Amino acid sequence: MSTRIPLPYGPRVLELFRNPKNMGPLSNATVVESAGSPACGDMIRLYLRIERDERGEDVIREATFESYGCAANIAAASILTEMVRGKTLKEAWAISWKQISDELGGLPPIKFHCSILAVGALKRAIRAYYKKLGEHPEWLPKDLVQEEKLVLEEEEMIERYYKAMRELLRR
Ligand code: FES
Repeated sequence: MSTRIPLPYGPRVLELFRNPKNMGPLSNATVVESAGSPACGDMIRLYLRIERDERGEDVIREATFESYGCAANIAAASILTEMVRGKTLKEAWAISWKQISDELGGLPPIKFHCSILAVGALKRAIRAYYKKLGEHPEWLPKDLVQEEKLVLEEEEMIERYYKAMRELLRR
């Protein structure tokens, strides 16, 4: 008898976990940003190639990812890279973690954070792009939005945990 608890993943999650799209680094990426913590492995690194078109719109031409997380994390990052391709940064900014989850046919509640990490990485990448240019478009919120705050909280929590672990091991 198996001692593992089966997770209620839908077929889309399993399909993208087994055959993820756009996985791997992008050598000519305009921005590369991560969300999550390498300490515990729940982490997404997102690569975006962005071009400013003749109308002055910043468009995502290519998106790839690396993931060190679970099946839901891989599936969320994979579908995100599909969803953002061809979108302007303003359109991509509007993608929510819930949309990612819906596109995947729904995630179990304990896996919502995998989708939040994917959107957190996207939002970081968009902010990093404009920071690099020294610009701040009017649609980009000045303050962190919910997903960005949650990602930060998670990173800080993991950092605190591993710091305590290191201290424990030194004793
Ligand atoms: Fe942490 Fe999926 S990335 S459970």
